[in-house]
Amino acid sequence: MTRSSEPSPALAALRDATRALHADLDQHSPLAQEHLHSASYLDHAARVLGWMRPLEQAVWLTPLSCALEPQLMIEKRLGKSSWLEQDLAEGGFSPMRLAEIPRCPYIPAPTSQAELLGMAYVTEGATLGGAFLSKRWAGRLDGLSLRWLKGYGAETGALWKSFLDVLAVHVVTSSDIAAAQHAAQSTFLSFRCWVIDEAPELPR
Ligand code: HEM
Repeated sequence: MTRSSEPSPALAALRDATRALHADLDQHSPLAQEHLHSASYLDHAARVLGWMRPLEQAVWLTPLSCALEPQLMIEKRLGKSSWLEQDLAEGGFSPMRLAEIPRCPYIPAPTSQAELLGMAYVTEGATLGGAFLSKRWAGRLDGLSLRWLKGYGAETGALWKSFLDVLAVHVVTSSDIAAAQHAAQSTFLSFRCWVIDEAPELPR
């Protein structure tokens, strides 16, 4: 029996599988650099939106995720694209420019709940990093409210904990754990390629 203070086998395995990929993002993200300007934040947010829109659809708008309700509280987790859109609108993006942002074409498609939860580990974990970064950049980017980084705000800890509870119950066998690891790695890699490396041309 796993004590509640210990990570579940699934969480421990996901951490192992993605540690190096996360550290790599930490190094290369513009948000982790010493200096950041509002234009660079907005440019980055637009690329993240192009990744997040198809990812949110793939993870939450599928029959696989319906079976995990109500424990997952999907309606709360489904708003990340709209946080990014709020930041971009505040930074001057028109609705037409927002609609034209290119979408990442290689978001993995989950074929099992284990894969879905491996992908969700990445979207939900990113809110923890966001909370850290929101404190770091608050008030330093021309008054931008940084809605994306604030994420779930005061609910961040509780929503992370409830996600971990679902993960621990639904990803148990070694084959499910391996499937979740692989899906989480592919999701991290899609972020790295689309947001950091490919830097697709954005509409002006
Ligand atoms: C500059 C970029 C980033 C920084 C500085 C950062 C920082 C952090 C920090 C401090 C935590 C731990 C928070 C805590 O324990 O309370 C965390 C967790 C996490 N972050 Fe990031 N993050 C960054 C970007 C990202 C991105 C872009 C993703 C996803 C694509 C991501 C995925 C995760 C995940 C999955 C976790 C959960 C790890 C776990 O506890 O199992 N992070 N991040």
